[in-house]
Amino acid sequence: MIIKPMIRNNICISSHPAGCAKTVRNQIAGVTKNLAGGRDPQSARAAAPAGSPRLVLVAGCSTGYGLASRIAAAFGYGAATVGISFEKPGSQKKPGTPGWYNNLAFDAEAARASLVSKTLDGDAFSGGMKAEAAKALRDAAAAAGIPARVDLFVYSLASPVRTDPATGITYRSVIKPIGESYSGTTLDMMSGNFTTASAESATEEEIAGTVKVMGGEDWELWIEALGGEGLLSPETRTVAYTYIGPELSWAIYKNGTIGRAKQDLERAAAVINQKGVHAWISVNKALVTRASAVIPIIPFYVSTLFKVMKEKGLHEGCIEQIVRLYGERLYSTRAAQDPAQVPVDSEGRIRIDDWEMREDVQKEVLDRMARAKPENINDLTDVVGFRHDFLEAHGFDVDGINYDADVDPSGL
Ligand SMILES: NC(=O)c1ccc[n+]([C@@H]2O[C@H](COP(=O)([O-])OP(=O)(O)OC[C@H]3O[C@@H](n4cnc5c(N)ncnc54)[C@H](O)[C@@H]3O)[C@@H](O)[C@H]2O)c1
Repeated sequence: MIIKPMIRNNICISSHPAGCAKTVRNQIAGVTKNLAGGRDPQSARAAAPAGSPRLVLVAGCSTGYGLASRIAAAFGYGAATVGISFEKPGSQKKPGTPGWYNNLAFDAEAARASLVSKTLDGDAFSGGMKAEAAKALRDAAAAAGIPARVDLFVYSLASPVRTDPATGITYRSVIKPIGESYSGTTLDMMSGNFTTASAESATEEEIAGTVKVMGGEDWELWIEALGGEGLLSPETRTVAYTYIGPELSWAIYKNGTIGRAKQDLERAAAVINQKGVHAWISVNKALVTRASAVIPIIPFYVSTLFKVMKEKGLHEGCIEQIVRLYGERLYSTRAAQDPAQVPVDSEGRIRIDDWEMREDVQKEVLDRMARAKPENINDLTDVVGFRHDFLEAHGFDVDGINYDADVDPSGL
């Protein structure tokens, strides 16, 4: 089958197996160079500071920040990894989701590098998946010859829906403002045209639903389940990701439904900490993922941000962000042995959005956004880079891939 991108309204419904596999290999190469000091995973593990992770669980392992977190743990520290995601396999007739191909590629590369990896596909919100993960963690630890104790649990789920396992009620998350409606300029990345995207103010039910799906309840349930299975230790660390961003996006993000859910995630971090597990919220940079392309204002803001950060030599993708999160925050030489040494802001959060939020970066971005028009869009913004990253997240526009070649969509 010859697979081409099929995109409408910043949503892509096809993906390319060989392109996805190449992006995974590219990320592995980046980690090997920038986190493992050019070493193979086993030598990287031997050279890593004491306290670096050996058994790692990633919920949301197949794309975006979760995939980068798994790759960096495995190829940066030689960790055995268990990953969970909810993806659609490809068939002879139809491509699967990008995350499906990414997982296949990760497992293949891990096996080639003699790393233990177990990938589970299904609903991470369910009790059944938590039990399956516990078994996979024990198996992974046995195969790697290490204690069955999770050193790091990365919680990186992004989902539109969650069924509460206690009640069977299904909740939906929405991206809406609270209190008043929102209207913001957005950018069609394929045409480079501006459009106005609007969203009505969320109802109380929608706010509560979004908190149920994207808040911290499920993260707490995971910690409880891992504790109940005897898989935690006093050294266990856990991190969940959030975004804050510039004021121009707050009406739709930070002060909207998703921001409420993220507040709840911060509440959960405090509760988990009180239970004796070292928990952090990491504030990450805005990046192009499948979900972020459909949030009003974000494609315009991110395109402009990328241009400015690239010009200043500050640009990072998911993998560079996570390399910095591990190498300079969670597992720096000092912090690897003592969690109190992890650098945090006044609210206890890890900040790897520090370069995005730098005053000079934000000032330049705002100035350019005010001046941007369809005629100067390529001069002032990096809509081309945004489009590339979006296509790449689906396995397209990847260097070295022949997109006219026949590929088998059912696997690699
Ligand atoms: N993208 C950004 O710009 C950005 C910036 C800062 C923080 N974040 C945060 O990072 C986290 C991850 O976001 P992302 O952009 O990498 O998302 P993503 O869409 O790329 O990845 C989401 C992952 O969750 C998995 N998933 C979804 N529902 C699931 C379910 N029911 N069971 C099991 N797995 C499920 C998917 O399979 C995928 O692996 C989110 O908390 C997000 O808010 C994102």
